[in-house]
Order: sequence, then structure tokens, then C-alpha cells
Amino acid sequence: MENLDNFIKGMPKAELHVHVEGTLEPELKFQLAKRNNLDLPYESEDEMRAAYDFNDLTSFLKVYYEGMSVLLTEQDFYELTYAYLLKAHSQNVVYAEIFFDPQGHTSRGIAFDTVINGIRRAQIDAEKKYGIMTQLIMCFLRDMSSESAMETLEHSLPYKEWIIGVGLDSDERTNPPIKFKDVFERARRENFFLTMHCDVDQQDSTVHIWQTLNEIGVDRIDHGVNSLEDGVLCREIKDRNLTLTVCPISNGYVTESMKTAEIKAMLEKGMNVTVNSDDPAYFPGYMNENLIVTQRKAGLSKAQVVQLSANAFEGSWLADEDKAAFLRLLSEYVAWKYTFNILPK
Ligand code: HPA
Ligand code: ZN
Repeated sequence: MENLDNFIKGMPKAELHVHVEGTLEPELKFQLAKRNNLDLPYESEDEMRAAYDFNDLTSFLKVYYEGMSVLLTEQDFYELTYAYLLKAHSQNVVYAEIFFDPQGHTSRGIAFDTVINGIRRAQIDAEKKYGIMTQLIMCFLRDMSSESAMETLEHSLPYKEWIIGVGLDSDERTNPPIKFKDVFERARRENFFLTMHCDVDQQDSTVHIWQTLNEIGVDRIDHGVNSLEDGVLCREIKDRNLTLTVCPISNGYVTESMKTAEIKAMLEKGMNVTVNSDDPAYFPGYMNENLIVTQRKAGLSKAQVVQLSANAFEGSWLADEDKAAFLRLLSEYVAWKYTFNILPK
């Protein structure tokens, strides 16, 4: 099998499934705790990592929410976002759609405005400095009430121009998509794009995926790997040209496998599957590591790796001309690598 590591590293990429709070690396967590005069129950970054003891979504979320406690000021959100964008840029990510969880902060007494102003300023500065383009997706926490989600949606409306879409994350157990039907209908009327997490190997996974299609009318599905259990569902996802944002290293932590064979199966069915990092500070691996492990474990060809990147640009919520420009950049890269590779012969 061809070694495609360097090809993957150099390839222009889009990331469609990354939680900004999930990019909070231990080093920054310590710095922010110190600045904010907070005590962390760990002596060192290694000790903190060692305490990241999770094996399913629920146990992961406990650590994830605890981690947020160091984020207090606009500057904290700025530094968090900027650090992720710098890392993404270093891996040739040229475009990212970034989730944020306002209720994870407003429930701790942090103002919505503080959160979004910090994130937004980092987006602008990183684009100016590195040319990395980004858009924001606001997620509702599905283990909170639909009323709280609706309030959050209403609170976000003055910032509508800064938010491209809404999503749904947190604990899926007993919190099906349909619980948020009214909220997502309202979001649609406000012209947001819609996506929802359908986490892997949940109770009633395929029922939940059907709900996102038939009851919510999503534009995208986050994870959604269990759709493979239902041929009719796969066909429907394909016919509606819905993109699935799969996160293999994350899946490896919260389920029994990275689901890389499933990613290949989706590619072979012509489904618009993409590879993403989810919460790279907790499930170690950013875009390159996720793509490299998928390529190696599933034995993907170079054409399939390129397809994964093309799927992400296609499935993005960019304007058509920007999508086309990024897809041109990708094909130029592929052509350039070909020329480069034959030069030494
Ligand atoms: N699933 C659900 N909620 C989340 C995730 C996820 O992968 N990451 C952060 N919050
Ligand atoms: Zn996620």
C-alpha cells in the first residue's frame, strides 16, 4: 500500500466537525486556570491527560464540561479559538466550520456575548494573518430542555450574521432529534443551516437518523455511521446529497472501533462522507492524524483520500464560488503532486 502520509499533510483540507471547546489543550487549560486564579486538581499536563478516562460518550462529556470551567473572559475564548486555527492552518486546513456550545458557558454565568465576541475576533485575526476561512455553528445541548435551546436561539439572533448554522450535541441517550423539532423549525425560518449529531452506536441510532431526515430536514448529519445498518436510509442520505461528518479517532475512544471500514464503505456507496477531528484535545489527533489513520487502516487509495477532501468542500456551507475555488485548489494540488512525484524518475 502506498504511503500517503505526506500527500495527506500537504493536501488542502476542510474541517466540518470540530467543537472549539474540544480543542482546549492541557497546556492552555493550565495557563487560563492560572490567569483566572482557579485551582485545577492536577499537578501537570501529563497528570491531566492521564485523568482523561472515558470509554463512552457520557464519560467523555463529563471531562469535556469540566474542562470548560477555565474559560471565563472574552480573551480566553479568543485564545482558545486562535490556538485551534493556528494548529489547523499548520496542517493545511484552509476552511473550517466550528461548533461552539453557548449553553456550556451561559449555564456557568458567562454571557453569550463574551463567548461569541472572543471567538469571532480570533476568526477575523486568523483569517487576516493565515488566510484560513471559517464559519461558526451554534450547538444546542440536547440534554438540556428544548425551552433552553429556544432561548439560546433567540439570544443569538443579534449575531445572526456571524453564525452560519445550528447543530445539536451532548448526550443523545433519551434525547432524540424530535425533542428539538420546534427549535430547528424556528432556526430554519431564521435562515440557519441545520445539522445534528447522530452519535455512533447509540440506542435507536437509525431511528434518530431517520428523524433528522423526516422530522427535522437537516442539511447535514454529524457522525451518522449507523446509517450503514439500513440500506434504504443510506439511499435516502445519498439521494438528498447529505454530508456525514465522521470522526474516526473520536469514535475509537467512545465506541469499540474507529469505524474506518465504515468510512470506506460509505465512500464506495457514493455517500458524501468526510473525516474530521471532533475534540482533538481529548481524542488526540487533528485533521492530518484522522485522515492518516483512516487511510492506513481502511487501505484507502489516493483517489479516495482526495475524495474525502473534496466531499468536505462540497458539503460545506460556503457560497458556490468559494466552494468552486477551494475545489480548484484541491485539484491543482493533486496535479502538482503528480508532476512532483515523477520528477526524480
Ligand atoms: N458528541 C456529542 N456531544 C459532543 C461531542 C460529540 O462528539 N463533542 C463535544 N460534544
Ligand atoms: Zn461532535
